[in-house]
Amino acid sequence: MPTLQATFYGHTYDNPFMNASGVHCMTMTELDALADSAAGSFVTKSATAEAREGNPEPRYVNVDLGSINSMGLPNLGLDYYLDYAIKRQASHPDQPFVMSVASYQGFDEYVANMRKIQESDYTGLVELNLSCPNVPGKPQMAYDFEDTDRLLTEIFAFYTKPFGVKLPPYFDIMHFDKIAAVLNQFDLKFVNCINSIGNGLYIDEVTDTVVIKPKGGFGGIGGEYVKPTALANVRALKQRLNPSIEIIGTGGILTGRDAYEHLLCGASMLQVGTQLEKEGLGVFERLTKELLAILEAKGYASIAEFKGMLGTLD
Ligand code: DOR
Repeated sequence: MPTLQATFYGHTYDNPFMNASGVHCMTMTELDALADSAAGSFVTKSATAEAREGNPEPRYVNVDLGSINSMGLPNLGLDYYLDYAIKRQASHPDQPFVMSVASYQGFDEYVANMRKIQESDYTGLVELNLSCPNVPGKPQMAYDFEDTDRLLTEIFAFYTKPFGVKLPPYFDIMHFDKIAAVLNQFDLKFVNCINSIGNGLYIDEVTDTVVIKPKGGFGGIGGEYVKPTALANVRALKQRLNPSIEIIGTGGILTGRDAYEHLLCGASMLQVGTQLEKEGLGVFERLTKELLAILEAKGYASIAEFKGMLGTLD
């Protein structure tokens, strides 16, 4: 029987599956349920300095091939998640998880949020979300290479705990090169590729209207639509980043085969957003079974035997 054990930043997890931040991770109750599910680990909802209601509803809609959302970072505030994280790491030291941190105001709030975590008792992993596409009037930080460089420089000047960044999808080889050059200057533990594909538009065929209210219907696209883009980002960054920077693969994981493809591209952990929202926590048991069946059929004993080993035709 093969194993799905996944090693990620010094810890071995039962399997590589996690939720993607934003899905099933707003409250302590949801987070505890995730921790007790078949997922290998979990991540909290991206926290901003203050609690936020987020954008007006409807703001998340499932569609045939995925989802569109413009949640606008609704969350219970950094103190809430920090408090949860500190208690959880004390009560379950053998079950590490990831705390997601964002910013609503921009640059200075990112820095202030990281400073608060630095000064807290939380010592675990942080995922710094540089890629929320849904705050009206605020660009996605990681599309601005200079600002990202400046932000990471400022954070690394005081921050000594392990963290990684959640990236938006890139679509040009030059942009893969540029973001990798920025990130390689820093002792980041991981990057997470990808956040939703920002500012898509979905139209209802009965009403001829958009389906979500914020921003005139523009929202982040997830699910089946995004898998090729997600795989390309995992692969391209794996090829360019320092080997010490691990990759979390997120985007279009609906089946064990999708998970397997992310691993072939070099992902160490895998996050599931849209499909978790559609299917509920049972998705993790199904995905682990499907992925195990693939390893068995191909004669692999562990993920390490094929991770990153995507074949090419030249
Ligand atoms: O698609 C997303 N929606 N990505 C994020 O990073 C944040 C979230 C939201 O709250 O809008």
